[in-house]
Amino acid sequence: MKSEPVVMGIETSCDETGVGIVRGTELLADAVASSVEEHARFGGVVPEVASRAHLEAMVPTVQRALDDAGLTLADLDGIAVTAGPGLAGALMVGVGAAKAYSIATGVPLYGVNHLSAHIAVDTLENGPIPEPAIGLLVSGGHSSIMLVEDLAGKVTQLGASIDDAAGEAFDKVARLLGLPFPGGPYIDRAAQNGDRAYVRFPRGLTAAKDMERHRYDFSFSGLKTAVARWIETRRADGEDVPVDDVAAAFQEAVCDVLTGKAILAAKEHGVDTILLGGGVAANSRLRALATERAEQAGITLRYPRPKLCTDNGAMVAALGSHLVAAGVAPSRIDFPANSSMNIEVVSLADRL
Ligand code: KG4
Ligand code: ZN
Repeated sequence: MKSEPVVMGIETSCDETGVGIVRGTELLADAVASSVEEHARFGGVVPEVASRAHLEAMVPTVQRALDDAGLTLADLDGIAVTAGPGLAGALMVGVGAAKAYSIATGVPLYGVNHLSAHIAVDTLENGPIPEPAIGLLVSGGHSSIMLVEDLAGKVTQLGASIDDAAGEAFDKVARLLGLPFPGGPYIDRAAQNGDRAYVRFPRGLTAAKDMERHRYDFSFSGLKTAVARWIETRRADGEDVPVDDVAAAFQEAVCDVLTGKAILAAKEHGVDTILLGGGVAANSRLRALATERAEQAGITLRYPRPKLCTDNGAMVAALGSHLVAAGVAPSRIDFPANSSMNIEVVSLADRL
C-alpha cells in the first residue's frame, strides 16, 4: 500500500507568507512569515507592501518548512498553492513560486481555493471531515455558510455576507474603539472583561422578512454603523466609551447571528456536523457560543486551534493532501492567480 501523500502548501493571498507540509492529515511543518507589522500603521493591508514581503520571505519560508519537517523537495508528492481569492499581486508571488518549484522538481501542482483550505485545515486536528458538513467560513474577506458535500470538489455556498465580512467588521469596530490592527484578536481580548448585554446592537438580516429572502446571508455594515453612532453620541455627551463593554456587545451581535444561521442551515439540510474556519473562527466567544448551541441542537461542532484558523500554509497543504488522496487531477501549469476566484471552485483541476 502506498504511504500517505506528502504535500507542501504555499499561501500568499494576504499578508501571511505561509508554507506548510503535511503527510496525509498529519502536520509536519507550519512556517509563517507575516508582514502584519508593516501594515499596522496604515490600519489595513497595503497590497504592494504585502507582495514585496512575500517575495522576500518565500524561499526562506519554504526552506524553514522543509527543515522543520526534515524533508527535501524530492520527498514531496504534491505542491498546493492558493490560486485565489485574495490580493492579486500577493497571489502571483505564491503561484509563481509554486510553479517554479513544481517545474524544477517534477512534483504535481494543485492550484487551490483559499476558502476551501480554511475548511480543510480542520482535518489536521480532527481527522477526515464527515460529509455532508456545514462550513461556517468567517475571515477578513468572507463570511459564508457552505454546504460541503465533497471537500475534494463539491462545495455549495448557501449564504454569505451581502456587505462587510465578519473579520472586516471586527477590524473596523476595533478602529472605532482605538484598538490596533488587525482588530479581531484585540476585540476578543477586550470583550473578556466586558458585559455582553451592555447594549443590544442590531442583528442584521434576522427579522422575519429578511429571513425569507436572506435566510443564510449576513449583513454587518449596519452593525458597524450602529456601533459608530453609539460611540459618537456617547462622546458628544462628554462621556467615556467603555471599550470592553462595547467590544463584548458588538462581538455578541456578530457571534449570535453567525452561530444562529449556521445551526439553522445544518438543521434545514439534515446535516449533523458544523465546521468553523477562517480567522474569525479563532474568536473565543464564537467558539463558546457555537459549542453551546450545537450541543443543544445535537450537532457535532469542529474547529481547529486558533493558530490554524488564521492564514497559514498548513491549510493549503491539508487541502492539497486531500485532493491527492481523492485522485483529483493536478492543475495545468498555466493556471492564473485569480483574485476573485469563485468560492465554490475547490481546485483548478485540469481546467482554467
Ligand atoms: O482568515 P484570515 O487570517 O485572513 C483572511 O483570509 O481574510 O482572517 C483575518 C481576519 C481579520 O479580520 C482578523 O481581525 C480576524 O480574522 N480575526 C479575529 C480573531 N483573530 C483573527 N476576529 C475575531 N476574533 C479573533 N480572535
Ligand atoms: Zn484566510
